[in-house]
Amino acid sequence: MPRPDPASSDAFARDLCRFIGASPSPFHAVESAVARLREGGFTEVPGDASWRLAAGGWFVRRGGSLVAFRLPESPLRRYRLIGAHTDSPNLRIKPLPDRSSAGVAQLGVEVYGGVLLNSWLDRDLGMSGRVVRRDNGQLRETLFAVDEPILRIPQLAIHLDRDINERGLLLNKQAHLSPMWCSAGPDVPSFRSWLAGLVDCAPASIVGWDAMLHDTAAPAIVGMAREFISSARIDNLLSCHAAVTALCAAPTDTDTAEAQVIALFDHEEVGSTSDRGADGSFLGSVLERVSASQGLGRPEHLAALAASHCVSADCAHATHPNYADRHEPDHPIALNGGPVVKVNSSMRYATDAASAAPFLEACARIGTDVQWFVTRSDLACGSTIGPVAAAQLGIATVDVGVPQLAMHSIRELCGVTDAAVFASVLGSYLG
Ligand code: CO
Repeated sequence: MPRPDPASSDAFARDLCRFIGASPSPFHAVESAVARLREGGFTEVPGDASWRLAAGGWFVRRGGSLVAFRLPESPLRRYRLIGAHTDSPNLRIKPLPDRSSAGVAQLGVEVYGGVLLNSWLDRDLGMSGRVVRRDNGQLRETLFAVDEPILRIPQLAIHLDRDINERGLLLNKQAHLSPMWCSAGPDVPSFRSWLAGLVDCAPASIVGWDAMLHDTAAPAIVGMAREFISSARIDNLLSCHAAVTALCAAPTDTDTAEAQVIALFDHEEVGSTSDRGADGSFLGSVLERVSASQGLGRPEHLAALAASHCVSADCAHATHPNYADRHEPDHPIALNGGPVVKVNSSMRYATDAASAAPFLEACARIGTDVQWFVTRSDLACGSTIGPVAAAQLGIATVDVGVPQLAMHSIRELCGVTDAAVFASVLGSYLG
């Protein structure tokens, strides 16, 4: 893939906006990725069966996580991976959510991940997720998404919170975040009944739900010169979209002994430790099964991992124009300034001089500038899936991403050109 021109960057950004808009939950993000992979000729393999895999494109999913890979014609000797995450911080419906206060029926919510809580106030909120229900003696999963503004968390008026602008907004996660659902009264259906109506089943047949809120405002291209993308879940659906785009576009004359893999993980925002998170066994077991399907024994599989490389793609902090002092002054990061390589000597990022090289070469091939991120030495550093995936698999890994502002806000901001350039770099990296 060559470096994209402005017109193709704009078209790419609009495609990204469609992908994000269709993916309000990790389950929907996987569905969105699967639709594109199927269109690209990839075939699903079930996680609970044994695999016989020929050369070509395959994918396996588990809840909000997905691993897709293209196998070479020639004998498999190594993997080239891109990792990203499907989840974003949000508010999630509790198991017994029905409550009311001051004549208003509300829903109880839990905070998922590092939410910028203030950004969820005064927004028109929808809901999405999955329902598990009994259907003729079988358990069945149904995804649902309501893009109508059915919920709202109003902020307290300034007249009742006079020193808020001097003291700052203080929000208690238990007391202050229950969204308004409707006026309370005897006819208000329980959440379970409402959900049953939505997925067309009896309330008693619902076994459980993984339900979460989202902003119903659609993603938009903004700024005087229309050079920014304003959207929910840029962290990290931007990287998921770029990875899927790159894998679908990668060359299919795969006579390289190398399998191209993308791993899109759920649960990054809560530490990645789960049956399908980056700090679990999901990716490792998939790679082991892929190797076995290609006739590799355990020693050959371990040799393949030792020869492999991984790009961990997650958004990076651009330098905030109003808070430039929060950033490392010698490492400014500009929106639309090119992909960011993230470094942290305490290995909060997996990058080192050697693991950065394959990504830097991909950037050089398409002729893009690269930006280097380190956090201020007197501030704590964030982290991502790179270090945990590297530790789980023993694969050399580099942490990279597109720069953004307002990370973990309900509405984040990134650059139009950056999104397209990043997908091109990932395409170049894969092959
Ligand atoms: Co992230």
